[in-house]
Amino acid sequence: RAQMQAHSMALTEAMTHACDFYRGQLRGAAGAIAYLKNRGLTGEIAARFGLGFAPSGWDNLRSVFPDYEAVVLAESGLVIDKVDEDGGNRKRYDRFRERIMFPIKNTKGQVIAFGGRVLDHGEPKYLNSPETPLFSKGFELYGLFEARQAIRDAGYVLVTEGYMDVVALAQMGFPQAVATLGTACTTNHVQKLLRQTDTVIFSFDGDKAGRRAARRALEACLPHVSDNKTIKFLFLPTEHDPDSYVRANGAEAFEQEIHDAMPLSQFLLKEVCGEHDLNGPEGRARAQFDAKPLLQAMTPSSLRLQIVRGLAQLTQSSPSEIEVLFELAKPV
Ligand code: GTP
Ligand code: MN
Ligand code: MN
Ligand code: MN
Ligand code: MN
Repeated sequence: RAQMQAHSMALTEAMTHACDFYRGQLRGAAGAIAYLKNRGLTGEIAARFGLGFAPSGWDNLRSVFPDYEAVVLAESGLVIDKVDEDGGNRKRYDRFRERIMFPIKNTKGQVIAFGGRVLDHGEPKYLNSPETPLFSKGFELYGLFEARQAIRDAGYVLVTEGYMDVVALAQMGFPQAVATLGTACTTNHVQKLLRQTDTVIFSFDGDKAGRRAARRALEACLPHVSDNKTIKFLFLPTEHDPDSYVRANGAEAFEQEIHDAMPLSQFLLKEVCGEHDLNGPEGRARAQFDAKPLLQAMTPSSLRLQIVRGLAQLTQSSPSEIEVLFELAKPV
């Protein structure tokens, strides 16, 4: 136990040193600074999020870590160990090269991982730290540490897909934003968010992937919604993500989008009814068929009852018929 703590301390320390190094490198990196400026970010906001730059070159971290061969560096994901197929030659090199660095912090503010963005159109666009003893993607939310007070002040959290969405929204007056980092929103994310605030507004990209992400977020939320929580979904035009939207249309327009966001109940009913012809029995049956697992995932609540009523109306049934059919009623 004590040894494990010492170990994670060494990992945390390595991440902190690397973060300081990347931040220092950004100061002298004209290309990276121009890139950030071009995306509308000020030095102040870059500093608030601790943005940095990993320069080109294969072993810049040697200057930060005299013991570049240390096991902890490979475990932190900062360096990659590559062993030749014949097992002979071992190579060590920096994972992040020529990328804008976004430090990911835990709720204590310690750096636990990085995301790195290329400056041009290289692939992959973003490179993330691997899963480590410090970092588990399904649990962490980018920007949560930085957003905590703003979430309290605003009374809600905005959940986006990407690093740039969080930083750009903060720059444009919406510091209450976090991101799921390209992974699906998990039930762990939802629980973590609902511990911070009673209102969660998802604002994913307007493209197909973003819509799929919204559907998955809906499913992740269902076991955790209750009558004193509000979940909403903000759908952007297909060509936009929150970053590009707020830049193109301004903060006021985005504020209006937040105000008009679709409540979970409405999104759920739209999801199950939207694709079926409710004018015929088959279409209505299919809508009920699609709704069943979603309603079963919810715990009994007034909200679930309201959704059952809405579905009943749309599908020409009675709420009690649906409750029986879906086995929603508590066994006596
Ligand atoms: P910008 O193009 O810089 O505005 O980024 P974006 O956040 O709009 O990117 P996108 O909508 O394509 O992706 C959303 C999020 O998914 C990113 O912020 C990353 O966290 C993640 N992501 C995107 N591309 C990649 C990739 O190539 N690899 C990995 N691992 N993650 C990615
Ligand atoms: Mn993409
Ligand atoms: Mn996208
Ligand atoms: Mn973007
Ligand atoms: Mn995007």
